Amino acid sequence: MSNNEINRTRRNLIIATATVGGAGVVAAAVPFVASMMPSALAKGLGAPIEVDIGKLESGAKLTVAWRGKPVWIISRTKDMLQRLDKHDDRLTDPKSEVTSQQPDYCKNPTRSIKPEYMIAVGICTHLGCSPSDKLKPESDNETGPNWDGGFYCPCHGSRFDLATRVYKGSPAPTNLVVPPHKYLTDTMIRIGDDGKGA
Ligand code: FES
Repeated sequence: MSNNEINRTRRNLIIATATVGGAGVVAAAVPFVASMMPSALAKGLGAPIEVDIGKLESGAKLTVAWRGKPVWIISRTKDMLQRLDKHDDRLTDPKSEVTSQQPDYCKNPTRSIKPEYMIAVGICTHLGCSPSDKLKPESDNETGPNWDGGFYCPCHGSRFDLATRVYKGSPAPTNLVVPPHKYLTDTMIRIGDDGKGA
């Protein structure tokens, strides 16, 4: 192969690599950006956001951004709700008594305004990683036995249930944070403003 041919082959390889990398970034970014309702400016200012959950399927989870943090909206099925009261004795704060972790109106067994929707900041209360979904009641090496569905933090192994309550023995000291929020309609939620000054 001549020097010219070698150089041409190298150039093509570089272009091909850059294209694949670029496509990956776009593909990863689109679902996240598409799920955000407010303008970038409002988001940057920490303004409340409004989220339409009309298309959120039962049993699914939606992630939106508020104040630069991921906020989860989990549509809990009846089965998911029934599993919530099966493991109180294994939780650090089953009754949500640490008041900093949720508004008063979510200090209840489901940590929510409407039991079928769980809303929480998806950041581990240990050192700030984002826990992974383990929504199904399927035990594995990460969840440990008798798993009723929830979340697992891959950084140091904290585990949370479907009300984002932390399991005993986790490095995370508290349940995840429930942000102030309210329902504007049956399917429209405002996050970051509950009309109570929060
Ligand atoms: S950051 Fe989640 S367990 Fe450490």
